[in-house]
Amino acid sequence: MRVEVQAVAPEQVEADVVAVPLAGGDGLGGAAAALDSALDGLLGRLSRDGELRSDAGRTGLVHVDGKLASSRVAVAGLGERVDADALRTAAAAVAHETSGFAETLAWALDDSLPVPLEEQARAIVEGTALGAYATARWKRDEPKPKLSRLVLCGDGGGLAETAARAETVAVWTNRARDLVNSPPNELTPERLAERAREIASSLEHVTAEALGPDEIQAQGMGAFAAVAQGSDNPARLVVLRYDPPEPARGDLLLGLVGKAITFDTGGISLKPALHMEDMKGDMAGGAAVIEATGAIAELGLPVRVFTVAAATENMPSGKAYRPGDIITAANGKTIEITNTDAEGRLVLADALWYARQQGATHVLDLATLTGAMEVALGDLYAGVFANDDDWRRQVVDAGEASGDHVWPFPMHPRYRRYVDSAFADLKNSSDLRQAGAVLAAAFLEEFAGDGPWAHMDIAGPAFLERSRGDYMSQRGGTGYGVRLIVELARRLSEPAG
Ligand code: BES
Ligand code: MN
Ligand code: ZN
Repeated sequence: MRVEVQAVAPEQVEADVVAVPLAGGDGLGGAAAALDSALDGLLGRLSRDGELRSDAGRTGLVHVDGKLASSRVAVAGLGERVDADALRTAAAAVAHETSGFAETLAWALDDSLPVPLEEQARAIVEGTALGAYATARWKRDEPKPKLSRLVLCGDGGGLAETAARAETVAVWTNRARDLVNSPPNELTPERLAERAREIASSLEHVTAEALGPDEIQAQGMGAFAAVAQGSDNPARLVVLRYDPPEPARGDLLLGLVGKAITFDTGGISLKPALHMEDMKGDMAGGAAVIEATGAIAELGLPVRVFTVAAATENMPSGKAYRPGDIITAANGKTIEITNTDAEGRLVLADALWYARQQGATHVLDLATLTGAMEVALGDLYAGVFANDDDWRRQVVDAGEASGDHVWPFPMHPRYRRYVDSAFADLKNSSDLRQAGAVLAAAFLEEFAGDGPWAHMDIAGPAFLERSRGDYMSQRGGTGYGVRLIVELARRLSEPAG
């Protein structure tokens, strides 16, 4: 999709559809009012009759042949809470409604809304690109969306760069969604490694590498190796490095760590059959860090990045690790396995160690780690845990600014007893039905090394069991985390001060 910003009024923009926002409350807002007077009050009448509605995500299409430069108007409801998410949802609804027939879509920016124009531009581009995403690549006769051009109109001033950046980030977000939605027979650990190599070969200053089972063993990554040993598809520690020529802060290496379980059966602690197919999405953290690294590199952000995704299946077999096994992680700590379904924290333990060993100064991990997190926060917010208040704040702020919402959860030394083991340094799960997500974070902290570290449990928002009713209206992967990571990297691109 090509994105343009034009200093043209909505009644004059030439498009198949021109979209205007309609906020809750009475009366038409700035852009809608302008179109309304060009249409001799038609929109006002339709709105009074209840044909055009301001409910969030509602769109009304009006054919206006001849009276405007565009042939149709889409009036997009924003609902009562007018913020960037409301605009994303409206834009996605318009894209969804019109992408089957419209090639050029115009969107009116509206200075009567309580959202700055720059944020409006960003939200509309994102909502359109994410809303037009087609999940069903494996359905043979799904029609292709026609939408190829988006024109933002109503203000010229300097929004082109914002719009272009939003488009780039949305494209990489959709690529992460593609990975998450891919079936686990196609998206194996080796395929994820190949994806990283594709990214490295298409972008400057990016290199890719993948460690296989022998190298994982040789590095002493006994926790990662234990999870991987039950599967016939060999594990990969997927690594991407982005080394921009002139980093803003030479002392800073952003370490991105992702859980990439390409299918989580639970292993010997087998999961129930119902909805097990959704566990193809258990690599969403890995997909997010890999595709976000591509986005950062394409945008040329001056921040050094080291990315690692621990990719393996978690399978039951005669070779699988068992409850009762005691394994040794790369940092030397011994772990008693009490549940083979708590595999994410094991692969992360060694991936976190590796990121530190390779020099990461600021570490952020993303993982679909616990069902407990999804129970706590549902499908909208992720939870974040950190050993550093300032780093956690930066993650939360980047999340809010980007649309990837994340809420802070506590860490405290007295949670450590949850993972105390009678036989080893720690155990990987507890039989107490308490604070499952906090326990997992307490486990990870033992492997996070020195320096700022934050852990995001994205089990809820990374993979939707059904439409969320907003701009993420399709079952499956959301690309959660890509937007947050890019925003965080952008903020780290400012010189320290
Ligand atoms: N991948 C799952 C967590 C998950 C569950 C993600 C539902 C998305 C939706 C993880 O590996 C897991 O199985 N966690 C267990 C941990 C337990 C055994 C301590 C869980 O949450 O039940
Ligand atoms: Mn599991
Ligand atoms: Zn898992």
